[in-house]
Amino acid sequence: MRYFTAGESHGKGLVGVIEGLPSNVYIDVDEINDLLKKRQSFYGRGNRMKIENDKIEFISGIRNSKTLGSPISFFIKNYDYKNWEKYMDPMNCDISSKKVLKPRPGHADLSGIIKYDFDDCRNVLERSSARETATRLAIGAICIQVLRNFNIDSASHVLSIGDIRNSNTYCFEEIKRSDEYEFRFLDNKRIDDIKSLIDRIKSQGDTIGGSYEIRIKNVPVGIGSYVHYDRKLDGLLAAALISVNSMKAIEFGDGLETFIDKGSNSHDAIEYRNGNYRRKTNRAGGIEGGMSNGEEIVIRCYHKPIPTLYKPIKSVNISSKEIECASIERSDCTVVPSASIISESVAMTVICQEFLRKFSGDSLKEVLRNWKNSFLN
Ligand SMILES: Cc1cc2nc3c(=O)[nH]c(=O)nc-3n(C[C@H](O)[C@H](O)[C@H](O)COP(=O)(O)O)c2cc1C
Repeated sequence: MRYFTAGESHGKGLVGVIEGLPSNVYIDVDEINDLLKKRQSFYGRGNRMKIENDKIEFISGIRNSKTLGSPISFFIKNYDYKNWEKYMDPMNCDISSKKVLKPRPGHADLSGIIKYDFDDCRNVLERSSARETATRLAIGAICIQVLRNFNIDSASHVLSIGDIRNSNTYCFEEIKRSDEYEFRFLDNKRIDDIKSLIDRIKSQGDTIGGSYEIRIKNVPVGIGSYVHYDRKLDGLLAAALISVNSMKAIEFGDGLETFIDKGSNSHDAIEYRNGNYRRKTNRAGGIEGGMSNGEEIVIRCYHKPIPTLYKPIKSVNISSKEIECASIERSDCTVVPSASIISESVAMTVICQEFLRKFSGDSLKEVLRNWKNSFLN
């Protein structure tokens, strides 16, 4: 299974294409739209999200709510386009207004104009913007529905926003209910502190980052492979996840604790229970040697504070070459809860790709048969 995304932030809309899903998978469009809405609606997000009302419109590959096995394509309209058509029309538009000449440090702006030979950072930021992640979220939402047929389920929750952390440990079912908590932060006692922190940072024209955890359960043993570097599951997950805008670090299992600890405290003893190999602990986070080992996959992701600042830091005007403050585009203050939803979907996309590689089939029935056969070994 492979996929493409296209679309500019203030263009007509976003487009996604997925090729390689089996036929006869039931797709619940409301569930995808609910996830898209969730991505948009957190405290700390900017005014743009009040304009957009993301909804997926399928163009191909699905009939009467079931996949056909043919490429699935879809469109997500940008409602803000009506305000931008004059500047963004693909064939004929005003390119002298809305120019962005002072590249924002921390963004693709400067390297992008040099690489693609532009004199306007808008040509870069329209695509480098995290608006693109709405498409990847939708693709992941479809993959989540595919994987449900094999009991594979995911959950995520926010671990920290700025310096406010939740260090408690939670089971999968508790994390699954994170949407019932503000900021997807499971420690209710700290919600007011987070709100005050965001308000304070925002009033200073600044931004904050944070971290979250993704858990995936019931992934069968042997997804991914050790036989070649580019088939390792942790490598594939890391590559897909780190491409989520503003993510700067990723951790599998207890990776950030074990690197200073002894080997005897860092690995998971093997047991044999009810006919299955199991682990006493899960420090590896469900992946060893580039393969799933049957335990919950545990991933933690760390995001930098987003780079557009209402109190901007210094940059250079690319026209005059004078030092000036960086440009300001409409911006969020923190995106950590939204990013947790996006990244959970991105992780499930990778699991879906690798699951279908192992249990490949043209129809859902065929994939189910291959998956069930694997229990017989
Ligand atoms: C959901 C989401 C929303 C974002 N919104 C903004 C934003 O409003 N302003 C901003 O400067 N960066 C925002 N970012 C981060 C930038 O897109 C990102 O930092 C930039 O493209 C540079 O990429 P990099 O940080 O991955 O190197 C957002 C990221 C995510 C995940």
